[in-house]
Order: sequence, then structure tokens, then C-alpha cells
Amino acid sequence: MATPLFLALSAALLLLSVPGAAATGVFQVRRKFATGGGGGGANISHLRAHDGNRHGRLLGAVDLALGGLGLPTDSGLYYTEIMLGTPPKRYYVQVDTGSDILWVNCISCDRCPRKSGLGLDLTLYDPKGSSSGATVACDQPFCAATYGGKLPGCTANLPCEYSVMYGDGSSTTGFFVTDALEYDQVSGNGQTQPTNGSVTFGCGASQGGDLGTSNQALDGILGFGQANTSMLSQLAAAGKVKKIFSHCLDTINGGGIFAIGDVVQPKVKTTPLIRHMPHYNVNLKSIDVDGTTLQLPAHVFETGEKKGTIVDSGTTLTYLPEIVFKSVMLAIFKKHQDITLHNIQDFWCFQYNESVDDGFPTITFHFEGDLPLHVYPHEYFFENGKDLYCVGFQNGGLQSKDGKDMVLLGDLVLSNKLVVYDLENEVIGWTDYNCSSSIKVKDDKTGATYTVNSHNISSGWRFHWHKSLVLLLVTMLCICVIF
Ligand SMILES: *[C@@H]1O[C@H](CO)[C@@H](O)[C@H](O)[C@H]1NC(C)=O
Ligand SMILES: *[C@@H]1O[C@H](CO)[C@@H](O)[C@H](O)[C@H]1NC(C)=O
Ligand SMILES: *[C@@H]1O[C@H](CO)[C@@H](O)[C@H](O)[C@H]1NC(C)=O
Ligand SMILES: *[C@@H]1O[C@H](CO)[C@@H](O)[C@H](O)[C@H]1NC(C)=O
Ligand SMILES: *[C@@H]1O[C@H](CO)[C@@H](O)[C@H](O)[C@H]1NC(C)=O
Ligand SMILES: *[C@@H]1O[C@H](CO)[C@@H](O)[C@H](O)[C@H]1NC(C)=O
Repeated sequence: MATPLFLALSAALLLLSVPGAAATGVFQVRRKFATGGGGGGANISHLRAHDGNRHGRLLGAVDLALGGLGLPTDSGLYYTEIMLGTPPKRYYVQVDTGSDILWVNCISCDRCPRKSGLGLDLTLYDPKGSSSGATVACDQPFCAATYGGKLPGCTANLPCEYSVMYGDGSSTTGFFVTDALEYDQVSGNGQTQPTNGSVTFGCGASQGGDLGTSNQALDGILGFGQANTSMLSQLAAAGKVKKIFSHCLDTINGGGIFAIGDVVQPKVKTTPLIRHMPHYNVNLKSIDVDGTTLQLPAHVFETGEKKGTIVDSGTTLTYLPEIVFKSVMLAIFKKHQDITLHNIQDFWCFQYNESVDDGFPTITFHFEGDLPLHVYPHEYFFENGKDLYCVGFQNGGLQSKDGKDMVLLGDLVLSNKLVVYDLENEVIGWTDYNCSSSIKVKDDKTGATYTVNSHNISSGWRFHWHKSLVLLLVTMLCICVIF
């Protein structure tokens, strides 16, 4: 029996990859996000509640090497690498700020990919092959905390299971294990040293759909959500890191910066995260195109169940409620009545032989706390062939029933910016930034400030546009508990 726990909109699979290691911890992330409150089943809202954990016993900074390129015409994803087990083995995982658990393909897996079209070597995790690995039983505290109480039917020694189902038909099911995680702690300017932590993560025993076969296959997904089950929360609870992470997704060179720790440079202006939401929800107040505020009904940006604005690195595109989408499109093309838009696989595309940055307006999203998000034409359009541009905004109303009223800000509009998720202070912020450069993070143990450089974990792999399109559609994601 499967009880749906979360519904999530999952647009393109974006991976943040962190290659080699720097001193702070580096994780790979894949983007997915849940809208919470799936029908029936356990009330898991409390799982996602902020834990307000503000212990002062912290913490080193972590550098997660990133690879991948978030353009829809490239891999459309960012990923990182982590080391699990004793002796440690390397796993490539998508970085996802929209989900809360780390899982990797397991040795007992039915349909797990052995090869990746991304040119990465895949590895199956074997709990028995790791001297530090242990299966989590359903009566252990992690399991009870994850599911908000003891699972019905739980008897001693039964494994604590999990299941994630995606709307495109893909899924992963498995059980939780605890093992050693090795990550790169920032130890100097541009330097890292390997550090150990213990984490509980999913051992993916069965994958369905694309997760089993995709040419974008990776070893798993690293959720950077706010729940206590995330790797970040676990490392924070162990006093190893602060619950602050940041990313800078580079659409120019690929890869970028992904770090855990206090960013001291650049400075970013922030907006409050809405509390008790399963995702990184913020208050969007208005949208300007070319300096003119779009006239939209006040309620369109209100937060509520299946309503509101989510910052979701891991989704490639940006999804807008139909009324907002139409208004934005009209404003973008206001001065180009002559342009003909063609629908190419559900993207609106057009021929243009001049600079889009010169010919089209900047769009500014305004958030609570006077935080602007500037999106330039080369960020909301992507080039799909010579002089052919496509719009990176999607009409959410056409994508999914549950997500139709949501504003989902994906990687294209978040790229080329340093985005800081400060869960200690419950704020998120960003600033335009060169993601091929470096940032400065503070090591709370020593008070020292160190440089964290950008990375580009290269795979030498090129993505094919027509194949990637299917992954760009918003799909519904449902994480289920199976017992
Ligand atoms: C779920 O639990 C939270 C807090 O525990 C509560 O505020 C909320 O109303 C509950 N939701 C449902 C649908 O029961
Ligand atoms: C998350 O962990 C913190 C401290 O580790 C704890 O205080 C809090 O109650 C936990 N939250 C949930 C929902 O279990
Ligand atoms: C990580 O943990 C393992 C087993 O606990 C230990 O053998 C190893 O030396 C540790 N590595 C580091 C870098 O601390
Ligand atoms: C751009 O296209 C227009 C018509 O679509 C054409 O007249 C013009 O010569 C083109 N310019 C360049 C530089 O190709
Ligand atoms: C971004 O930073 C890199 C590394 O410092 C530098 O080589 C590059 O020129 C910078 N790009 C821009 C547009 O300033
Ligand atoms: C990053 O990697 C991609 C291939 O994955 C490569 O095309 C690109 O040139 C690399 N960028 C840099 C700055 O090394």
C-alpha cells in the first residue's frame, strides 16, 4: 500500500554537481519540489517545519563541486559528487532544493542504470560492502521522526522504507541506511580537506521509468530541502555545519559554486522564507517589465495551499499562473508585434537575428523586503539553434492541475546569481554574480574567511535538445511511504 505524502512539481531535472572537493562540504543536488499536502495519508507538514535549530556549536564550511549546465539545450541539470561508505566510494547525485532526502542506487536494485549518458561512472551502493553501513529499522528514531510516529505494521528489524514517485512515471523505492559520508571541508583559500560525517539516506532498491534508464542517469538525488531528514539538517544536527548553503549556477561555463556555510562576500539582500512551508516559499509582490509594473489581481501572488511562489533550483524553467504568463508574454513582445511565435514542443520560439539583450526588456520580480530579482533577456530566453530563441517561461496552467496557480522560479532565472539559503535566519537572498569567480565563506570554528572557487565537473557529455525536452515538462512528484 502506498500513501502519498507529498505532491511536487518537478520541472526539468537540474543537477548541481560538485566535483572534487574543497574544504567545506560539497553536495550534488537535483531539483524537485513538493507542494505538500498530498491526498490522504499521514500529515507530514510537521516534518518540514523549520527546526529553528540555532546551536552555537558550529561549524566548518563545505565546498561542493558542481558540474553540468542548466540550459534546456544542454544537460538541463547540475550535479555534485559525494563519497559514501568505508572504504569511501564516489557517487554522482543531482542536487535538488525541492526534496528532502539523499538516495543512491542500491546493490539490490532491479532496474538501475549501469551507465550514464552523462559520461559518468555509476556505482551501486552496497550496505554490506561498507564496514560502516547499517540498515535503519522501522522502529528506530529516524524512521519515526521521518513519518511522524511509529509506522503501522512495524515490528522489530523490519527496514524503514521510502518511495518517491514522479509524475512522468519514474519512481524510486528502497530503504534507509546509515553510513559514513565524506565531504570537502573548506580549509583555506581555494582549499579543502576531506571530513567525515554520518548520514541516513535511501538505498534505492527499485527504480521505475526514466530513473532506471535515462541517458541523464546519475547515482541518485541529494535533497537540499529544509526537513530534518536532509543531509544538511543531519550534518547541522551533528554540529558539523551551519544550516546555510548557497549556489551560483553558471550558464556560461557550466558548473558554478555550491557551498555550505556563512557567505561573507558577496553581500546579499534577503527576503523572509515563509515559515512552515515544505518548500522555499517567498512572498512575491509584483513584476515589472521594462520598469512598468504589470497590472495583475492582488490575489495571484498570495501564499496558500497550492498557491504562492517557490524558489526551486533544480527546475530548469519558470512556471507562472496563466494570467501572469499571458501578461508577461504580452509585455515582453509589446515592441515586437512583427515577431511570429512558433510552438516548438510546447516552447514559444521565434527567429531573431540581433542581440536579445538590446531588443527585449529586463523583467524584475519584486519580493517582500524590497529584494529584486532581475532577469535579463538572455536568461529568460534560451537559444535553440542559429537565431532561434525560445521563451524559458511556461504557462503553469497547462502543466499540472496542482501547480497551476503557483509561481515556480527555476534555474534559468536563478542562474548567474549567488543565491543564499540561510535557514538559520529563515531568509533567502541573491545578487547578480559571476558564477565563474569565487565567493568568501566564514569558518565558524576559527573565524577565518576563505575563498571557495567555482567548479565545473566536466563530463565531456553534450546533451541533445530533443531528448531533453521531455524532462523539462513540469510533472507531479509524489513521495510515498510504503509499508
Ligand atoms: C497538519 O499538522 C499541522 C501541525 O501539526 C496542522 O497545523 C495542520 O492543520 C495539519 N493539517 C492537516 C491537513 O491535518
Ligand atoms: C528537527 O530536529 C530538531 C533538533 O534536532 C528538533 O528540535 C525538531 O523537533 C525536529 N523537527 C521535527 C519535525 O521532527
Ligand atoms: C571516516 O570514517 C572512517 C570510519 O569511521 C575512518 O576510517 C576514516 O579515517 C574517516 N576519514 C576521515 C577523513 O575522517
Ligand atoms: C535580420 O533579419 C532581417 C529580416 O528578418 C533582415 O532584413 C536583415 O538583413 C537581417 N540582418 C542580419 C544581420 O542578418
Ligand atoms: C568571471 O570570473 C572569471 C574568473 O575570475 C573571469 O575569468 C571572467 O572574466 C569573469 N567574467 C566576467 C564577465 O567578468
Ligand atoms: C565546463 O565543462 C563543459 C563540459 O562539461 C565544457 O564544455 C566547458 O568548456 C567547461 N568550462 C570551463 C570553464 O572549463
